[in-house]
Formats: sequence, structure tokens, C-alpha cells
Amino acid sequence: MTAPLIDPFARAITYLRVSVTDRCDFRCVYCMAENMTFLPKKELLTLEELDRLCSTFVGLGVQKLRITGGEPLVRRDIMKFFHSMSRHLDSGQLKELTLTTNGSQLERFAKDLYAAGVRRVNVSLDTLDEEKFARVTRWGRLPQVMRGLDAAQAAGLKVKLNAVALKEFNEDELFTLTEFCAERGMDMTWIEVMPMGDLGNEDRIGQYWSLRDLRSELAKQYTLIDLAERTGGPARYVQLQETGQKIGFITPLTHNFCESCNRVRITCTGEIFMCLGQEDVADLRMPLRAHPHDDAPLEAAIRAAIDRKPEGHDFDYSRQKADGQVSRHMSHTGG
Ligand code: GTP
Ligand code: 5AD
Ligand code: SF4
Repeated sequence: MTAPLIDPFARAITYLRVSVTDRCDFRCVYCMAENMTFLPKKELLTLEELDRLCSTFVGLGVQKLRITGGEPLVRRDIMKFFHSMSRHLDSGQLKELTLTTNGSQLERFAKDLYAAGVRRVNVSLDTLDEEKFARVTRWGRLPQVMRGLDAAQAAGLKVKLNAVALKEFNEDELFTLTEFCAERGMDMTWIEVMPMGDLGNEDRIGQYWSLRDLRSELAKQYTLIDLAERTGGPARYVQLQETGQKIGFITPLTHNFCESCNRVRITCTGEIFMCLGQEDVADLRMPLRAHPHDDAPLEAAIRAAIDRKPEGHDFDYSRQKADGQVSRHMSHTGG
């Protein structure tokens, strides 16, 4: 049997996040600058290359595969890729095939995603106010995402909402968003805004709303029960006694969760990032392309990369821009 992927800190790598495109139909203000230069198509891994790369990871013990972007559902023919990956669910090697999406294309793809074996999707939505939604995404339309949520739930997909906590933006929607999710039977995760990528004029430090404060606010209206269980992701969860729903907190800045990290990230160009909050990167496209019929060099490159996985991330607002910021955009590594 092939040896599983274990990093230098004895963490087993069982979760692979794969960005299939750097493009997105939105330009969220904390994620991208308004004028982004996207990669030329020839730089991207083809869907066949992505398939081979993901399948190699599955062979090395990856059990959870999350497709991200940019917006993964804007990549042409992406459903072919999902359907192809479902063979690893059928074989029992892969336990979960899932995606993180902005919801804009879910109306079109929800049924097909379910047919490909997807059972759970994370949808990024920071506000329920149409005008604010248009502002934060720069031009997105909220009703389109709402129709996407409806379609996903109607198709049988379990939906979790991801909201980035933004000071003076969605502070006042803490309870409306919670109630919205409770009514729809959806769990929710709050994410601390992370210092990644140049945003032009946007000021991310000013946007930062600590989840410690958010949690105290929530506790004023609900009884929070701490849950030990994890989804294999970085969130810590509470259950609201009054509604039964789960609320997750992703707190890279106030509570580092790196000791239980189980994941690595692949970009749409075939680079592997061992940590979201570090610059270190290794190239997998070269061994992939140079040896189309031999997986051994690719496997060796993957193992060499895992051997370099750092103990933790380097995000730090107290150091401000000098070195507490990661220069690439979140969309490059897929969150
Ligand atoms: P579940 O499977 O539902 O637990 O999802 P997940 O939290 O693993 O995935 P999702 O794409 O919903 O992640 C939400 C956000 O959490 C990501 O977009 C990132 O912003 C952040 N995140 C996920 N993993 C990490 C990590 O390893 N480090 C840091 N700093 N942030 C992470
Ligand atoms: N900090 C925190 N979360 C971010 N996302 C995008 N950029 C950032 C950032 N700088 C979130 C999106 C989505 C997920 C993929 O990452 O809102 O939920
Ligand atoms: Fe697109 Fe998601 Fe980035 Fe918004 S956060 S611009 S939806 S990739």
C-alpha cells in the first residue's frame, strides 16, 4: 500500500483544496482589486491535468476534495470534471467531493452537482441587503444568488453560508443573517478577513471585525453551546440552543488553528501551496506535463512539497503591511 502523506509535524494531509480558475464574475472588495489581470488560458491546467493531479492525491490518501476558484462554476466544462471525480466517491477512496462558490451559477448547476455526488456546498454571502451586496461584490446581483440557494436546497444539497466579518458593513446583520440561516435550515460560518493580495484603495485593517467580539454579540441573544466536532475544515463550531443551527468561526487572526491543519492547496496553474498564509510554493505542473504516462515523478514532487509544510501561517495585522500580509490574492489559492 502507498504510504499516506504525513508532514514534518506529524499531520496527515487528507484534505485537498483545488482552485480551477482564478476568474470570478464578482470582485469582492476584500478579495480582489477592481481591475484584475487574469491568467491566460494556456497557463491553466487542463481539466484532464486537474483530473490526473487530483486522482494522484486521492491515491495518496486525500479523502476530502474541495473545488474552489475564483468562482469554480465559471470554468468552462467544469461539470465534466465533477462527474469524472465522482468515480473516486464510488470507489470509496474519496469521502467528500464539494465546492465553495459565490452562488451565482448554482441555479444552473445545482442538480448536476448533486448527480455528480456533491452533497454539501459552501456559499459565500456577506449581506442580505441588495444594495450592500452590489457594493461588496462591486456588481453582483443578490436575487441571482438567492435563486442559486433555492436551487441548491431543492436539489438536495446541504448549504452552508460563509460570511466574511466586516466592520461597519455586516455588523448590523449578525442577527438577520443568523435568522435567515435558521429559517432555511442552513449552518453558517463567519470568517475573519485575512490580509491577502493588494486591493488598490481598499483598507483591510479598517474592515477587520474580530470574531471574539462577534461571538460576544451573538451570545447576547442566543445560548452558545461549544461543539467539539469538526468538519475537517478550520472552523470551530457552536450550536445555538434556541434554533439548533451550527455557527462556525474561522479565526486565523485571533485563534490560530494550524496545529490541526490537514490540508494543502493547488492553484489553477498547478502550483502547490503548503499553507494559505505563507509564500512557499512548489510546482507540480512541470512533473505533470514532463511525464504524461508516469505518475512517479509527480508523486515524488508532491511528497517533497509536503515535507516542506510549515508549522503555521504568518498573518499578522499588528505588523501591518510590512510582513504580515501575503502578497497573492485569496482567489489565487482558492481561500
Ligand atoms: P468545511 O468543509 O465546511 O469545514 O469548509 P472549509 O472551511 O474547509 O472550506 P471553505 O472553503 O468554506 O473555507 C472557508 C474559508 O476558510 C476559506 O475560504 C478561507 O478563507 C478559510 N480557510 C480555510 N482553510 C484555511 C486555512 O487552512 N488557513 C486559513 N488561514 N484560512 C483557511
Ligand atoms: N479574508 C477572508 N476571507 C476571504 N475570502 C476571500 N478573500 C478573503 C479575505 N481576504 C473568502 C470569501 C469566500 C472564501 C472562498 O474566501 O468570502 O467565502
Ligand atoms: Fe469572487 Fe469569491 Fe473573491 Fe468574491 S470572494 S471576488 S465571489 S472569488
